[in-house]
Amino acid sequence: MSQAPSLARVGTAIRGEFPIFDTATYLNSCSQGALSVRVRDAVESWLAGWDENGAEWDFWVERNEAFRTAIARLLHASGDDVAVTTSVSQGVSGLVSALDLAGERNRIVISEYEFPTVGQIAHAQELRGAEVVHVRPDPDGSIPPERFAEAIDERTALVCCTTLSYRSGHRHDVGAIAEAAHAAGALVLADSYQACGAIELDVHSLGADAVTGGTVKYLLGTSGLGFMWVRPEVRKRLVPLQTGWFADEDIFAMSIADYSPHASARRFDAGTPPVPSLYAGVAGISLVEEAGVPAIETHVSSLVDRLLDGLDALGAGVVTPRDPRRRGPLVCIRALDVAALVSALAADRIVVSSREDKLRVALHVYNVDEDVDTLLEALARNRALLA
Ligand SMILES: Cc1ncc(COP(=O)(O)O)c(C=O)c1O
Repeated sequence: MSQAPSLARVGTAIRGEFPIFDTATYLNSCSQGALSVRVRDAVESWLAGWDENGAEWDFWVERNEAFRTAIARLLHASGDDVAVTTSVSQGVSGLVSALDLAGERNRIVISEYEFPTVGQIAHAQELRGAEVVHVRPDPDGSIPPERFAEAIDERTALVCCTTLSYRSGHRHDVGAIAEAAHAAGALVLADSYQACGAIELDVHSLGADAVTGGTVKYLLGTSGLGFMWVRPEVRKRLVPLQTGWFADEDIFAMSIADYSPHASARRFDAGTPPVPSLYAGVAGISLVEEAGVPAIETHVSSLVDRLLDGLDALGAGVVTPRDPRRRGPLVCIRALDVAALVSALAADRIVVSSREDKLRVALHVYNVDEDVDTLLEALARNRALLA
């Protein structure tokens, strides 16, 4: 490997945990993180425990709490402020269900870079009186905080600004957007699925009132598991209408006589936790924590620099911003025939993905310079397919 050995558990120091690198150049963490031996072992231990002991309820509930605590550490938050969900969709639906959208403050502002689930949930609220306002990118593809500020006023209940766009790699200035939203009395949701695990997120400085994500991508777990942090000061006035027994103030009271949501962010939990995904999620996050998100961010940033330099040399059309503060682990490249390009790369055992007419290349803790070079060589061979 061309990189110098690193003290942090990044690059060559961690790659051996991920068997896919024996046979492929994996650059698709924006879709799904690579499977590690550790995550496989964790899922197998769930099966073994089920076989040996039957219903291990106590241990399963403990895994749920281990996950909540791990997310809290990752976000520099308290576990009391973290809900465990089965998806971003569940968390966002619960959050929105707690908003009064029947009165004057009935607007939901969403960026054009939101994941479909956020836009669809926002528009679903039109059925109960909401108005949805879209914030569109400038010609250079960025959505500066001023565009949000123009769309926000005293009618705004919620502003949705994904931390990092799944389809362009743009990173929003969540802090500045939150400032404009808070000045107008609106809440801010930062869907951070494309950031958590790859970009350092501290809820104290991020500025959002709710931060959500899941374990499929840079947290190296699997599907069926997500989280939502909710600022404690605002949580108290948010009573979700979407709920379940795991959100109750006493799960095992087994009462059907009332609705008493838990005082903590647990009020945004719902039903039986996704047990296999919890085993995978806790194990995946342990790898992220061993490396440390700041070290991952630095490592990924240098890989992205290398990739951008190579793309410039090819004259490729890069959609993702150059400014390191405005980008993260995802680089999107314009293609003339993106399906053909993804297939051509797959034939070379290079795993990438696409959205619209763009090739998506995602770099993470386990990638090394050679991955970038392998991709660049393949793109040079397929230059005719790039815009
Ligand atoms: C930014 C973003 N939000 C949300 C999701 C998925 O949401 P959910 O957990 O509801 O499937 C994804 C990815 O698939 C995503 O990239």
